[in-house]
Amino acid sequence: MDVKHMQTAGLWYGGYDFIVPGITSVPSMPVSAEHIRTLNKYEKAILLALERGMKKYAWVPLEQLKTLTKLSESEINYRLSRLIAWGMVRFNPVPYDGYSLVFGGYDTLALATLTHKGTISAIGSQIGEGKESVVHEALGLGPVAIKFHRVGGRSFSSARLNRDYMPEEGHCPWLMASRKSAEREFEALMTLHPMVSVPLPIAQNRHAVVMALINGPNLNRCRLEAPQEILEEILENVHNAYKAGVIHADLSEYNILIEDGRVVLIDWPQWIPTTHVNAGSIVGRDIDNILAFFQRKYQLEYNREEAVQWVIG
Ligand SMILES: Nc1ncnc2c1ncn2[C@@H]1O[C@H](COP(=O)(O)OP(=O)(O)O)[C@@H](O)[C@H]1O
Ligand SMILES: [Mg+2]
Repeated sequence: MDVKHMQTAGLWYGGYDFIVPGITSVPSMPVSAEHIRTLNKYEKAILLALERGMKKYAWVPLEQLKTLTKLSESEINYRLSRLIAWGMVRFNPVPYDGYSLVFGGYDTLALATLTHKGTISAIGSQIGEGKESVVHEALGLGPVAIKFHRVGGRSFSSARLNRDYMPEEGHCPWLMASRKSAEREFEALMTLHPMVSVPLPIAQNRHAVVMALINGPNLNRCRLEAPQEILEEILENVHNAYKAGVIHADLSEYNILIEDGRVVLIDWPQWIPTTHVNAGSIVGRDIDNILAFFQRKYQLEYNREEAVQWVIG
């Protein structure tokens, strides 16, 4: 790995430290790469036990952690206090002493697995944050992007703390929803690459997707010299995705990156198959979003029927 080169390229801001992205109400805390790689085996065992326990409990009881890890109560308490300080675990004393993973802990488990498999060797600074994700640049075989899905985390972060139990519908909705979202996105990327210009998919673990790093701004932040060409390139890609049976369903100028003058379509977790009952109106909405953007920003009038025919024809 040519670390010096990466550094001079200005890609790494915090040395080679892992940054464990924070959750809504806990500031992000840098954890050294060394620490994640050699995350104390007891700490890792506790995170894994919490992950398992949360299939059954919103707040995993201490007793359950003892059973799952076979560690002594004092060892567990000591390790938990460290995990809580690092923003990976939360404690809730009511109505019983319970512990729960938060996004920071789930991020750590995903990173530990991806590091162990050799997919990632370091994580750099945050390069994006959307409604439902945090994206970091990272070092794999080359520069990569790692997207941590964050679905349902906001309602979880504070409101749930004051409740006795999670509602019946699921013991840990944010964890399951975030993992599902990453799985769906990875599936779309695998289906579409390379027929459609999307980031090359590299790996997926838990709620994290590793993909090629795209070097370039979001479409909304560009000043295009040839807007019509770019619009047609977008429609061509939407058409190729449609041919592959996939509709983006959240297409907008924010989910298109421009790299070396070419478009790259990102952010696929909400894709739907072209066999979906509402496929027609959903692909129509995607097209409308794009046409409206070009109309607004470049006063480009493009025939809607023609665009729709291009995509689904
Ligand atoms: N592969 C990538 N390469 C470079 N930047 C990316 C990549 N994927 C996402 N980003 C950046 O992160 C932001 C959020 O990612 P996105 O996939 O759109 O998730 P969200 O659902 O949170 O909007 C994007 O707008 C973009 O700036
Ligand atoms: Mg987005």
